[in-house]
Amino acid sequence: MQSDLRPATAGDIEGVLAFWRESAEPTSTDADGVLASLIDRDPGALIVAEADGHIVGTVIAGWDGWRGSIYRLAVGPDQRRSGLGQALLHAAEDRLAGLGAQRLHAIVVESNDVAVAFWTASDWEHQAGQLRFAKG
Ligand SMILES: CC(C)(COP(=O)(O)OP(=O)(O)OC[C@H]1O[C@@H](n2cnc3c(N)ncnc32)[C@H](O)[C@@H]1OP(=O)(O)O)[C@@H](O)C(=O)NCCC(=O)NCCS
Repeated sequence: MQSDLRPATAGDIEGVLAFWRESAEPTSTDADGVLASLIDRDPGALIVAEADGHIVGTVIAGWDGWRGSIYRLAVGPDQRRSGLGQALLHAAEDRLAGLGAQRLHAIVVESNDVAVAFWTASDWEHQAGQLRFAKG
């Protein structure tokens, strides 16, 4: 299935949240107010893949002026293993490079075998020996 990649707009919020319920592990920031604020603060950070009027993939390419961060990379179960994940990651990389980001990172849950396989197959480097600290 052919899909188009484009920046999300406020009109996509409901569809993105519904897509994540089907296609990704839930997070505490899956909320319309949070997404509205992201789209308002950093238009272009949330990239969606759309096919036949439906959202079939997402990625957030966040830029804080220091490092680029990849979040919420997800592809619908029916669209997996056809290169869409890679296409979304490349779109995120292109956006971040265009903004001047030189270093990018992504957090991958170690027990998520599919995600680990995806990132291992990519041209990103696994950085061993780092601990992640989080709040909230
Ligand atoms: C991880 C995810 C985004 C990959 O999307 P995708 O569109 O299927 O990935 P691609 O088709 O671009 O795969 C690229 C390569 O990654 C590897 N890969 C992807 N899925 C794999 C799987 N299930 N098993 C083994 N390798 C896999 C393969 O090397 C693949 O290349 P190939 O198909 O030519 O062998 C998708 O499985 C997903 O949305 N999972 C649920 C959400 C999630 O866990 N996101 C990751 C957050 S870090």
